[in-house]
Amino acid sequence: MKILIVGSGGREHAIATAVAKSPRAEKIYCAPGNAGIGQIAECVPIGAMEFDKLVGFAKENAIDMTIIGMDDPLVGGVVDAFEAEGLRVFGPRKNAAILEGSKAFSKDLMKKYNIPTAGYETFDDPAKALEYLETAKMPIVLKADGLALGKGVLICQTLEEAKAGVKEIMEDKKFGSAGNNMVVEEFMTGREVSVLSYVDGKTIQIMSSAQDHKRAKDGDQGLNTGGMGTFSPSPFYTAKVDEFCKKYIYQATVDAMAAEGREFKGIIFFGLMLTPEGPKVLEYNARFGDPEAQVVLPRMKNDILDVMDACIDGTLDQIKLEFEDNACVCVVLASDGYPLAYEKGKLIEGTEKFDAEDGYYCFHAGTKLNEDGKFITNGGRVLGITAKGATLKEARANAYAATEWVTFENKYMRNDIGKAIDEA
Ligand code: AMP
Ligand code: GLY
Repeated sequence: MKILIVGSGGREHAIATAVAKSPRAEKIYCAPGNAGIGQIAECVPIGAMEFDKLVGFAKENAIDMTIIGMDDPLVGGVVDAFEAEGLRVFGPRKNAAILEGSKAFSKDLMKKYNIPTAGYETFDDPAKALEYLETAKMPIVLKADGLALGKGVLICQTLEEAKAGVKEIMEDKKFGSAGNNMVVEEFMTGREVSVLSYVDGKTIQIMSSAQDHKRAKDGDQGLNTGGMGTFSPSPFYTAKVDEFCKKYIYQATVDAMAAEGREFKGIIFFGLMLTPEGPKVLEYNARFGDPEAQVVLPRMKNDILDVMDACIDGTLDQIKLEFEDNACVCVVLASDGYPLAYEKGKLIEGTEKFDAEDGYYCFHAGTKLNEDGKFITNGGRVLGITAKGATLKEARANAYAATEWVTFENKYMRNDIGKAIDEA
């Protein structure tokens, strides 16, 4: 099979690595990809939002399956563009990707179908939002409705902060048109767990759980980022939690989408909060998490192309999804200063060591090749240093040991990825 992967981050490197393991994969392309992906796939200089060019490339090169890694093209309708030309593509159509693309849509869906989530109100008028906030209980959470690179969420401790937040989101449009509508949500407490799943429109199969670390600094301080590290499985995702979610959340979501005439095929990523009243949905994403994919996919035993084929064909009920009985940890090496200003173009050394070590992965995110063909930094999140271990503690020790193999100027990482494991 010839495969095209759309995206350019660590997640797409993890997807490409899983695809490369499949005996069915003859040739892998990635648009636009990055320097690390370029070691196992042919990178093509087409942007993820250039639908016509992507479709054209897939036709000219007789691509058998295109896998969409990123949220923006999915929400923008890239799957519809491929299907309109009779091309095989993995991911939800536009009318289903709205599950991630609009927080107001997803909240209304959960309310209508009794899927546990935080209480909320939706506003399109800042004056109404301000009026509501006057009597609301603090802290409170404000969310820009649309896609905002994971940054459109404000947790406000006081009424003053909340008022400033309404101005930022709805009036100053800090997150662009994502802030035309705003969800105001009850603040929840508890541990967060990421659960990724494969969905074929009717059947849902859950992957092993994971936990992300979204803040830039140790001790969950600093600004929100795309994710600074992950571990899988989450020891807090117990059999009891799993049973609850299977009963009230997972299948219920797939059935709700189908009932709305928005059949969902692809990945549903459930962002869960394990609250004192039980698990609740924080958010849905319509794609693999980044860096969740980096710790979940290396543990998956199945041929990823078989599973994706089953999602497209509606035969996922015939697949037995299996994960290794071990653990995996990913520590993101970032450019110091991320998620604000940082320098790029720094020489990266030591990545070749990963090629020789089983169970260790150096997933590239913001990297490119310089004129001499050497890796240099090209983004905020640079590499996802990932290692397996028999236990979470062992995987964490292995991953941190491997962070030492790689050097670049202004290398920054959190030193407490997976610290929560010690409390389990
Ligand atoms: P989201 O993009 O909706 O996942 O929100 C980003 C982050 O904000 C989440 O990972 C949580 O840490 C936090 N968050 C979102 N909604 C709530 C909520 N209702 N209560 C508490 N924290 C929240
Ligand atoms: N790691 C969180 C996300 O991919 O949205």
